[in-house]
Formats: sequence, structure tokens, C-alpha cells
Amino acid sequence: MNIQSVGIIGSGTMGLGIAQVCAQAGVPTVVVKATPGDVEKPLLKLKGSLDKAVERGKMEATLRDTILNNLTLTDQESAVADCDLVLESIVEDMDIKKALFQRLEDICRPEAILATNTSALSVTAMMAVCKHRGRFAGLHFFNPAPVMSLVEVIHAFETSDDTLRSLNAFCKQIGKSPVSVQDTTGFIVNRLLTPYMLNAIRMLERGTGTIDTIDQAMMTGAGVPMGPFALADYIGLDVVMAMSQNIFDDVRESHHAPPHTLVRLVQLGYLGRKTGKGFFDYSVKPPISNPQLIHPVI
Ligand code: 3HC
Repeated sequence: MNIQSVGIIGSGTMGLGIAQVCAQAGVPTVVVKATPGDVEKPLLKLKGSLDKAVERGKMEATLRDTILNNLTLTDQESAVADCDLVLESIVEDMDIKKALFQRLEDICRPEAILATNTSALSVTAMMAVCKHRGRFAGLHFFNPAPVMSLVEVIHAFETSDDTLRSLNAFCKQIGKSPVSVQDTTGFIVNRLLTPYMLNAIRMLERGTGTIDTIDQAMMTGAGVPMGPFALADYIGLDVVMAMSQNIFDDVRESHHAPPHTLVRLVQLGYLGRKTGKGFFDYSVKPPISNPQLIHPVI
């Protein structure tokens, strides 16, 4: 299938970022706000960031207008009924995702491709609740979606070759670099990146270094654009903890279990950039490492 229209369920950071990428490539894109609340809010957020990019000379005004013209925001799932591809980017909760796909099976045409942007849940487990399994796959984008070129195209147990071909072609059409991955927990990137961040947290707990020295060392010694703590805050500590828990539940190896400091921060609602505090405190500019973590409670 030649994918010519896209529906995205979820208007959070990833949902909006992926929608921007599709709309920017000229693909009509419907975004469905999955949680209750004002449907104008995500649209205003996106408009604000596009306007800022135009003001800074990083984006042509015509491209901003193309993006906005190709986007429709709604809170009605039925709005994706005619889309060729429907991708979910909602909360990392297997039961909620399964219930969504059961509804989408009734809403969408049988030939439409259904896909999940899950970070580390089983694509095959979601496929299991669907009747038309050949058209089901994983399509995993990275944050920030408009910048990161990789998309993991995940081959679940009964995904058809046609579906994989269509998704690979679609990724190229929207300017991304697809990589084929079998459905294993965390796929390629999160399976490597999650233990890296968990190891940095354990290193902090052991007192090997501080948040600042560990981040600096990785940036200047390993050439990564962000150190592991800045990256965890950027991804969201709730997401990092969910990835860790999902991988641990699957493989039962203790080094994949969420470390105490991560659990405590999530319990406190310190989820990183999105809440203003995580390993760093973003209420000050430039952000400083969170002083509450200087003596971590283990
Ligand atoms: N939307 C659009 N463009 C953005 C953006 C956004 N949200 N954030 C940054 N950019 C653009 C900037 O406009 C700039 O573009 P330019 O080069 O044309 O001027 C470019 O990206 C660089 O941005 P900045 O100069 O503002 O800042 P940095 O140089 O510090 O880069 C970063 C920011 C791109 C986020 C960089 O730090 C980075 O690559 N970090 C690592 C991100 C990463 O590893 N992501 C993967 C996380 S894992 C994941 O997503 C999987 C999930 O399942 C959890």
C-alpha cells in the first residue's frame, strides 16, 4: 500500500512530533487527543514552537503553513476511519493500548495499517487482540521526532511482508531512515540505551561520580550530545522507568530493574523536563543538578 494519509492517536510530545514530520512531508495527518481536555491546547503548543522556529530563521514560513494546513486535531477517534496508516502514541500501558486497537479494528478499513510507537512493550501482545494481524506492526520514532532520523520498523509475529514494505517506503517518503527489527523488548535502541541510563544511576548511587561529572564525562569522552542524566530527564523518568520495568519483566535480569533513585524520583512526581525537575532542576537557567540528589537515599 502507498500510505497517503495518517492518523495519530495521542497528542503528547511524540504524537505531535511525529504528526509534524508527516505533515511536513505533505501527508494529510489527523491527530486524535487521547486524554480529556482542550483539543486546542496541543495545536497551540505546536503552533508556538513552529512560530518560534520561523522567528529564529530555522524554518521557512511557507513550511510552517504547509505543516499546519496538513494537520487536523480532534478528540474523535472516528476521524481516522479513512486513514491508510493509524499509529498510536499514547500512555505506555498494555491494557489501554489493547483496548484502543480493539476499537480501531472496528473504526478503520481492514486494509489500513495499524501500528504502535511503544518504547518497550510487546508489539505481538498488542497484535494478539486484533483480527487482521498481517496489517499490524511497530513503528518506533525517537524524541525529538522532527530531528532524529531513525525509525525502527518492528516485525511482530504475524506482520505481513506487504505491511513491512509499505512502512519502510513510508519512512523514506517522510525523510526518515528505517531499520528493520524483530519484536524483542526495547527493540534495538531502547534495549541498549535503557541499561546505559540505569548504569549511570547506579554509578551515582555508588558515589563513583556526581550527576554533573558523569554527564560531562560521557559528553566529552564518548561524544554523546547529552549525558545519561540529561537524556533520562529529556525522555521522561516515568518513560525510562516503564522501559526498565518492561525489559526486567521480560528477561528477569536484575541489572534491568529500575534503581532506587529512579523509583523515588518517579514516586515524587519528578519526571524530568516535563515537570521541571528530575536529575536536574529546570526552574533555574541554566538548569542545575537536583540538590536533593546529592545524598541519594538508597
Ligand atoms: N523539534 C524540532 N527541532 C528541534 C527540536 C524539536 N523538539 N529540538 C531541537 N531541534 C533542532 C534545533 O532547531 C536545531 O536545528 P538546527 O541544527 O537546524 O539549528 C537542532 O535540533 C539542534 O538543537 P539545539 O541547537 O537547540 O540543541 P542541541 O544541539 O543541544 O540539540 C538535541 C538538541 C537534538 C535534542 C540533542 O541534544 C540530541 O540529539 N539529544 C539526544 C536525543 C536522543 O538521544 N533522543 C533519543 C531518545 S530515546 C527515544 O526517544 C526513544 C523513546 O522510545 C524513549
